[in-house]
Amino acid sequence: MYKSFELQSLREIVREWRSVGRTIALVPTMGNLHKGHLSLLSRAQELADRSIVSIFVNPIQFGEGEDYSNYPSTLAEDIEKLEKKGLDLLFAPNLTELYPGGTREDTRITVPALSDILCGAFRPGHFSGVATVVAKLLINVQPDYALFGEKDYQQVQVIERMVRDLLFPTEIISMPIVREPDGLAMSSRNSYLDDDSRLAAATIYETLRIAANSLLQGAEIAAVESDALDRLKVAGIRPEYFSVRNQDSLLPAKKRDKRLVVLTAGWLGRARLIDNVSVDLKKKIVDKDKMEN
Ligand code: PAJ
Repeated sequence: MYKSFELQSLREIVREWRSVGRTIALVPTMGNLHKGHLSLLSRAQELADRSIVSIFVNPIQFGEGEDYSNYPSTLAEDIEKLEKKGLDLLFAPNLTELYPGGTREDTRITVPALSDILCGAFRPGHFSGVATVVAKLLINVQPDYALFGEKDYQQVQVIERMVRDLLFPTEIISMPIVREPDGLAMSSRNSYLDDDSRLAAATIYETLRIAANSLLQGAEIAAVESDALDRLKVAGIRPEYFSVRNQDSLLPAKKRDKRLVVLTAGWLGRARLIDNVSVDLKKKIVDKDKMEN
């Protein structure tokens, strides 16, 4: 496995691969790798001849008072996991490599239609920070494929929209959420949970499933949302939102919408957790599983 800490060596390796006709897939991460991240890498390895994982904790996507300075860093373990997977290239730049002029008043990319709703309403500037760093990576690697997890559903939408609008020659691939046995979506931030909170955290997925099933049974959206908020609060979760949306536009779902996504974000102790479940009312499908009637 190559390890590159500089843009220059990254570009050189990519140029070499391209010159002999190799296709390339990129998996951007902030490290602290778990099975969710590794599932993206497995798919990348199936899709392309060469795979690149980037590890970079991107300061500009964290708001003031958020967990940038204590975001879990486990580079040695991450490298071990990536070696074991047979990764071709790890790109782990430092801050000045990606932000040579600093992060104040730097050039940013915004995706206005999708950035101020849901998580964006609670994390001003977050999606602009994500779009900007992903753009930097895509420009320097120009991968054939870039892979992202549906756990960050809104993030995938933002990136797809950016790639479409800015004509990036990369195909965005979104991958299903990898979960713990009790349904909790895997996340680096799960390590912030103490034992009691960890138990309570399973309520998030449980609540999403209950909501999805109620929608399939014809329940009113407003009632589904308010029941879910109550259920989360009873479990000790402080929800930011629980919302039924149109899968494609992320706008609040209308009665005639069939392809829905139910999204939630909330706090448990000092962990901010997000999750979502897709529902297709026409096909009667929740996520990829067919529901028993
Ligand atoms: P990070 O949280 O490290 O996640 C990296 C990628 O792994 C994202 O595409 C995310 O959706 C995916 N992922 C995380 N948990 C997952 C799970 N349980 N199942 C499936 N996929 C999962 O998301 C980011 O980093 C950053 O915002 C980034 C895109 C790297 C830009 O800085």
